[in-house]
Amino acid sequence: MKVRMLVGGTLFIASVALAATEDIRQTVHNLSLHSNDTTEVCVFCHTPHGSNQAFTGAPLWNKPIDATITFQVYGGGQTIGGTTVDQPGDVSRACLSCHDGVSGVNAIINLPGSGGWDPNGTYIDYRGGTQPWRMPFPFAVGKNGAGNNYDLRDDHPVGVVYRGDEANPPASLKPTNTDITGWNVSGDSDGNPGPTIGDLLRNGKVECVSCHNPHLNAARFLRSGDGNSFSNLCMTCHGK
Ligand code: HEC
Ligand code: HEC
Ligand code: HEC
Ligand code: HEC
Repeated sequence: MKVRMLVGGTLFIASVALAATEDIRQTVHNLSLHSNDTTEVCVFCHTPHGSNQAFTGAPLWNKPIDATITFQVYGGGQTIGGTTVDQPGDVSRACLSCHDGVSGVNAIINLPGSGGWDPNGTYIDYRGGTQPWRMPFPFAVGKNGAGNNYDLRDDHPVGVVYRGDEANPPASLKPTNTDITGWNVSGDSDGNPGPTIGDLLRNGKVECVSCHNPHLNAARFLRSGDGNSFSNLCMTCHGK
């Protein structure tokens, strides 16, 4: 028991030391580091004016999104626990507009500076060219290893309801009001005090941003801030 407490204490100190803050400039999401056209960072995803108004999955979005794309989803649409896996939600489609491995990472609507607005997207210089730059595997999570497109079958389900509130949740899930102090969470969206699992969900579902924050200066952009050491991230939602 003493040892367990000591281990717990050590882990707690470690997680405080790792507390992550948002500074996207220090991350691989600073795409301007590989562009000859601009030193602006946000422009690869957001624009203050002339954004993609039709797309509401992420604010002031500066990229074209093809909302008609159908992804192959985890488990053919159902988990072993019997929960439906839907198409990725809008905010996940924002990530997938670069991470599907098909769309050009460098396609943006409103180029830096004046002029250069095209709702279908223009290719800004990225890694030495203005051709569509498609993300390679494994960063292209919207493919599987076999190279098929629009394929999320080998990925943790997104667009899946978190059934922690129901009378009969899948045995492995913790309640949505579970305290997740130490995680990077944007605001209180579920009304429960403190940061909780419910604050990670979108429309009650797990999406890419449940685990990742695209601005966070932390290993793999993980909201747990700890690179999933000791599988802390997984164990937060799953009591395995
Ligand atoms: C690689 C793409 C990407 C880049 C680059 C990026 N963002 Fe974001 N941003 C997103 C996505 C995706 C969301 C939606 C996140 C969500 O709903 O959890 C978002 C949400 C936001 C929000 C609203 C939600 C929140 O977290 O407060 C703000 C404000 C924001 N971004 C500001 C910025 C600024 C300022 C920059 C540049 C310094 C920037 N972003 C760069 C992808 C990006
Ligand atoms: C504008 C394009 C773009 C968007 C939008 C985007 N990313 Fe990325 N992302 C990248 C690029 C480029 C890399 C780096 C790939 C490389 O190193 O070759 C990357 C890398 C990553 C990595 C790996 C980080 C690491 O340390 O290895 C994660 C995780 C990630 N992105 C998650 C997300 C999530 C989640 C979203 C949506 C909230 C998102 N990204 C939106 C372009 C994007
Ligand atoms: C349930 C949590 C969870 C969800 C949901 C999730 N990820 Fe991840 N993701 C992780 C973890 C954990 C890692 C780090 C794995 C590692 O380091 O071995 C990771 C790694 C990644 C990487 C880096 C891949 C590599 O091999 O380096 C990318 C890119 C990424 N995620 C993008 C996404 C996108 C896009 C989505 C939504 C379609 C998404 N993730 C949904 C937990 C998640
Ligand atoms: C934000 C909460 C959350 C996190 C973090 C999370 N998961 Fe999940 N996971 C879920 C939900 C919700 C489901 C769907 C469960 C259901 O209803 O069947 C799921 C499903 C799964 C399944 C499939 C179960 C089935 O029935 O098919 C596996 C395996 C899994 N997660 C493993 C992981 C691993 C490994 C990690 C860490 C990398 C992780 N999860 C992190 C919420 C999460």
